[in-house]
Amino acid sequence: MRKTALLALMPLALASASCGRGGGGEESGLGETTTAASSAANGPTRPATFAMCASCHQVEPGKHGVGPSLVGVFGAKAGHAHGYSYSQAMLNSGFTWDEATLDKYLTAPMQVVPGTKMTYPGLKDPAQRKEMIEYLKGL
Ligand code: HEC
Repeated sequence: MRKTALLALMPLALASASCGRGGGGEESGLGETTTAASSAANGPTRPATFAMCASCHQVEPGKHGVGPSLVGVFGAKAGHAHGYSYSQAMLNSGFTWDEATLDKYLTAPMQVVPGTKMTYPGLKDPAQRKEMIEYLKGL
């Protein structure tokens, strides 16, 4: 008697499990559009390491957080973003952001620009920096 009852329940359990999987998968893609960073969804691929930068930097024009928006930073002079109050150290650094200067700065921001407000220890992995710079280029 008992065995039959258990077997009868099996198909039900299986059916509801596969239902849940299908629905959930489709919805999780839509859910992501609510994150602040979604504006770059059609732009260059965002490296996973950008999650660290994103706590201080936005990738929408004119939207500043703790740090300035990074839109248009590649090719610009240090202190490029309008409406953001940079440290004097950054304004005086004389950098123009290209592969070489970004690579140097991102390795150890606080050593390369002493007095910078960017209190981030640095992205130590050269491959991750390269990936990050490629991403910044497209913003
Ligand atoms: C703790 C917050 C914080 C984190 C984390 C952070 N930044 Fe910054 N960043 C800042 C601040 C603040 C400034 C402005 C610095 C100044 O004025 O001295 C800045 C400036 C910059 C600049 C120069 C911008 C300009 O307009 O000249 C670049 C490029 C930059 N950050 C890239 C990055 C990248 C890439 C990451 C992640 C690897 C990152 N930052 C992580 C806060 C942060």
